[in-house]
Amino acid sequence: MIMQQSRLDLFVDRMVSQRACLDHAAKVIADMEGPVFELGLGNGRTYHHMRHIMPDRDIYVFERAVASHPDSTPPEDMVLLGDVFETLPQALERFGPSAVLIHADLGGHNAQKNDLFAQKVSPAIAPLLAVGGLMVSSDRMYFDDLVEQPLPDGAVQGRCFIYRRES
Ligand SMILES: C[S@@+](CC[C@H](N)C(=O)[O-])C[C@H]1O[C@@H](n2cnc3c(N)ncnc32)[C@H](O)[C@@H]1O
Repeated sequence: MIMQQSRLDLFVDRMVSQRACLDHAAKVIADMEGPVFELGLGNGRTYHHMRHIMPDRDIYVFERAVASHPDSTPPEDMVLLGDVFETLPQALERFGPSAVLIHADLGGHNAQKNDLFAQKVSPAIAPLLAVGGLMVSSDRMYFDDLVEQPLPDGAVQGRCFIYRRES
């Protein structure tokens, strides 16, 4: 069997793409006011990186069960605990369309399931993004009103996606 890419290759591509896209997005939104949302805490690696590159920003984390590395565990009052299909609508009531950056890494190992999930969750994410704000995702999303952006240097096509609310 000829493999185009090993699982290790895919993992590395995802990691370098997440970092490149988050670094780029943090620079783009640097002068905007508003919170940042991390959807899917997992081990907390991307959350830890986001705190590192955006130390003064309020970063709210959406996760159904916190099980992160102790160094990467958000304060309790910054966690919206539960299923995103419940917490995203709650966040819209609480914050309105004010998020300047939303990062989503909610998927697992099954690409087909991830794609179906992305189709379902996209309409719950889009209304939270402020005008000029960016949405960074490890999966292709399905937005009617956000515009896909070119990837920065260092990101691998198809391993990360960036969307922007233009108006
Ligand atoms: C791939 S991990 C995130 C990894 C993280 N970016 C990191 O760097 O460590 C995905 C996380 O999303 C969470 N998740 C998946 N579906 C969810 C849902 N419907 N509601 C809330 N959290 C969910 C899982 O519990 C898991 O912790």
